[in-house]
Amino acid sequence: MTDAEAMTAYDCAKDEMAAAYKMSGLPAAGQFMNWKNYANNPYPSATHGGRYVNNYGNDTARNYGRYENVGVLPTGSVLAKNSFGVNGAGKVMIGPLFLMEKMPAGFNTDFGDWRYSMVMPDGSIFGRTGGKGSAKVQFCADCHTALGAEQDHLLFMPPQYRM
Ligand code: HEC
Repeated sequence: MTDAEAMTAYDCAKDEMAAAYKMSGLPAAGQFMNWKNYANNPYPSATHGGRYVNNYGNDTARNYGRYENVGVLPTGSVLAKNSFGVNGAGKVMIGPLFLMEKMPAGFNTDFGDWRYSMVMPDGSIFGRTGGKGSAKVQFCADCHTALGAEQDHLLFMPPQYRM
């Protein structure tokens, strides 16, 4: 997909996506579309299932916009990456929602006190750090920590897709 096609596909799927993730009951899943989207266009993310993704952040996470100079985001920061693909018939398929929430110090010290969650398109929660399915989302923390420990475990989108 070209950037323009990805944008059109996203515009079509947005409302359905918001409703799907909201079924999870996680507050962030119901709210993130009202937050700032730091991606200027949905972009392909090989590390999140090869889907097209965006990166939203709540107000507490506003220093995310400093990218590599982010420092350490405060407790209560939430980043939300929604995702979609397009099948052979041209239909937009909603993918999972990927959440990172900064918890109070001591939650998960080795992993930057981030709580990772993955919400499926049917609203079910695949896993959540420290909660149900915690082991199933450890791979999130492993990759984010291995590559990004010096920048608060954040990895940022390619520069051309940054707001
Ligand atoms: C193999 C490495 C890898 C794995 C596994 C991975 N991520 Fe990421 N993640 C990245 C990279 C690279 C970026 C930035 C580029 C992008 O968006 O593709 C990113 C970006 C993010 C962001 C936006 C914040 C940031 O770091 O810039 C969120 C939120 C996120 N990932 C959540 C998750 C969750 C939740 C999981 C597990 C279900 C997960 N990730 C698994 C590599 C990974």
